[in-house]
Amino acid sequence: MIEIVQGDITELAVDAIVNAANEGMLGGGGVDGAIHRAAGRALFEACFRVPEVRPGVRCPTGEARITPGFALPAKSVIHTVGPVWCGGTRGEAEKLAACYRNSLALAAENGCKSIAFPCISTGIYGYPKEEAAKIAVREVKAFLAAKNAKDAEEEGACPHAPNGRARTPAAPQMEVIFCCFSEWDKRVYEMLLQGVK
Ligand code: APR
Repeated sequence: MIEIVQGDITELAVDAIVNAANEGMLGGGGVDGAIHRAAGRALFEACFRVPEVRPGVRCPTGEARITPGFALPAKSVIHTVGPVWCGGTRGEAEKLAACYRNSLALAAENGCKSIAFPCISTGIYGYPKEEAAKIAVREVKAFLAAKNAKDAEEEGACPHAPNGRARTPAAPQMEVIFCCFSEWDKRVYEMLLQGVK
């Protein structure tokens, strides 16, 4: 299930909120700063304990790491690092898509039933908002379709009823929330999900 809300992601009581972090994972501005402020010092300490994959890098661009949410209403924080927009010539689209895929996969691996995304890379990193939203919606839809089919098979249910229509899987679907900070972002997602863009 996909939902669009406008507001502050740090206030959402979901299983996981996604942080638009940087590769060092030790905080920053934007939503990263807001999440660290709301979670408290314990989040910084948990991020500091995430092993570096190379000097100064705990989470390479496109990958995702999970920590507890500490003082946040969310149980967990999934930190992902979006690409810096460089005009679309350095694989930014694929890196941004990987942020959504890897965050969703990590949420599923950790049994999360609800996850909220900010508009990754569209603030300080400068990714064009509409292009980024198209990637986000495409990746979330693809993930949920594949997961629902897999859940149905695992439930032992035939993924398709005799009339060929997909059954609603018995397992509760993962709820994905696009948490937009601005009215403009919210409208972009609403138009995309209504299929008008
Ligand atoms: N709740 C929801 N969305 C928010 C919040 C909030 N509290 N604060 C900001 N946003 C939105 C911004 O309006 C933007 O749409 O999050 C989106 C991502 O913007 P940034 O936070 O600037 O993230 P990004 O563009 O991915 O740049 C990441 O910025 O904060 C640093 O450490 C971070 O270096 C990293 C870079």
